[in-house]
Amino acid sequence: MSKVTVSRHAHFNAAHRLHNASWTVEKNEAVFGKCNNPHYHGHNYELIVSVRGDVDPETGYVVDMKWLADLIEEQVEQRFDHKNLNEETEEFKVLNPTAENIAMVIWKLLRKEVAEALELKVTLYETPRNFVEYSG
Ligand code: NI
Repeated sequence: MSKVTVSRHAHFNAAHRLHNASWTVEKNEAVFGKCNNPHYHGHNYELIVSVRGDVDPETGYVVDMKWLADLIEEQVEQRFDHKNLNEETEEFKVLNPTAENIAMVIWKLLRKEVAEALELKVTLYETPRNFVEYSG
């Protein structure tokens, strides 16, 4: 069988603060820089969700892209878009909302909805130049 990767590009805006409560103010500033701003700041996150698997001979699809778009909207955009990640989401009340952690959280949210036979990868751009990838 030949496997194909299909991807959906999505977007959300969110505010965050990177902070480790067990560190001093100075250490937090040194490690997290501007992202430690106690008043928060925003990012325009660009998200690419990729699903890899066999092409269904009946539909010619790996997955229906409308289904994938709706899944991302329900699981990611409704949860995180225009939110303060630290203050307003369960996922990041304790977990530091770095791009790495956000990508892993998104992957876990989507993984339970995507058929086991399909591979899943999440690519998250925090800025146009900085991005992380997670595939489990
Ligand atoms: Ni930041």
